[in-house]
Amino acid sequence: MKTMPHRAPTSRNTANGPLLQIEDLQIHYQTARGLARVVDGANLTVGRNEIFGLAGESGCGKTTLVEAILQIIRFPNRIAHGRVLFSPDADDEPVDLMALSPTRMRRFRWEHISYIPQGSMNSLNPVMRIGDQIVDGMTAHGVPEATAREKIPDLLERVGLEGRVTRLYPHELSGGMKQRVIIAAAISMDPELIIADEPTTALDVNVQRVILETLVTLRRDLGVAILIVSHDLPVHAQLVDRIGIMYAGQVFEVGGVRPVLKNPLQPYTQGLMRSIPAIGGVRKRLGGIAGVAPSPLDWPSGCRFHPRCPQAMELCASVVPTLAAIRPGPRVVGAQEQALTVEPQRFVACHLYPESTPLEARDTSRQPLRRTDDIPIPAIVPSDRSDR
Ligand SMILES: Nc1ncnc2c1ncn2[C@@H]1O[C@H](COP(=O)(O)OP(=O)(O)OP(=O)(O)O)[C@@H](O)[C@H]1O
Ligand code: SF4
Ligand SMILES: [Mg+2]
Repeated sequence: MKTMPHRAPTSRNTANGPLLQIEDLQIHYQTARGLARVVDGANLTVGRNEIFGLAGESGCGKTTLVEAILQIIRFPNRIAHGRVLFSPDADDEPVDLMALSPTRMRRFRWEHISYIPQGSMNSLNPVMRIGDQIVDGMTAHGVPEATAREKIPDLLERVGLEGRVTRLYPHELSGGMKQRVIIAAAISMDPELIIADEPTTALDVNVQRVILETLVTLRRDLGVAILIVSHDLPVHAQLVDRIGIMYAGQVFEVGGVRPVLKNPLQPYTQGLMRSIPAIGGVRKRLGGIAGVAPSPLDWPSGCRFHPRCPQAMELCASVVPTLAAIRPGPRVVGAQEQALTVEPQRFVACHLYPESTPLEARDTSRQPLRRTDDIPIPAIVPSDRSDR
């Protein structure tokens, strides 16, 4: 049983190999309207001591993917495939979390992986003091109560809260303080990985910044890795080392956060970046992404983005691109002859990059896709009246 004190971060920082590897993860639900393929062939790797960001539109499967890592929700109608390999100790064989029994998985949660669920700051027990709530979580995992109580001041200090908070009730705390309490509870068992789902949504930008700084400090001081889910790209830009962009139950692009956000290679990521307003400079209409997001009950064939993609080719409608390492260096892609420079360690699922096309399909036509419909691209107009 792991208790106090927090381990020295150095052993975690220097260890080799990934901490978490998600391979071809599928989480499907049998629903009254048919099979919902919510996560459908997702691949992802998180390194030790890394802050990894997962982004994508609402409904693309981000929460379902992280809940699958933790095996939290096992609805009777859930069908799960794939592997979630976790290596808390670099010298040992990784453990496949998908294959663990519910009892073993319960031990893994909190002790090795802790979870800050979407909206969790509103789930604190309103009639229990903060200190008691954190102690309860620890004693439930076998830490003696006295040891747990002794640890509370250190936990609160690590997230920037005063010791007196231990005696307060949730209604006496601001939203930012509640979120820091949740983070204190998440580090209480000294996990190797913290998964945080939208931890800054609903907080104002100043409080957001404090929470993000707290997470960065914890990574530095405790050597923990963090997987953060957010649909907010500026949050990722401030916080994460690498980012994964999800679309329709799959991961479409992975790379260093700055290269991905400054030089997106995948047309969906390019569309996302065109949708973000720039502060300052000339006011202009924002480009959006054509069409509407598809449903997990009926994903499009081939590349799931092809009905909305301005660069779609004939093979995109029938062949699924795989998330592949893209050769670094300058290149020209697509019929629109877009000139790009690919940085090292970029992974993309898109037929514009032949590395992504399965070998047996590389001869399939790369002619632009003939469409029968013309999908309008919504323009988002700045709201300043002086523009009208
Ligand atoms: N138990 C379930 N049965 C059927 N469909 C489900 C189930 N859970 C989630 N879904 C569907 O899966 C899709 C993805 O949900 P999920 O919550 O993972 O998305 P998300 O990317 O986290 O979205 P958001 O950004 O809004 O939090 C949604 O369309 C949702 O309706
Ligand atoms: S695979 Fe084809 S449809 Fe999908 S993003 Fe790339 S170019 Fe567009
Ligand atoms: Mg979610």
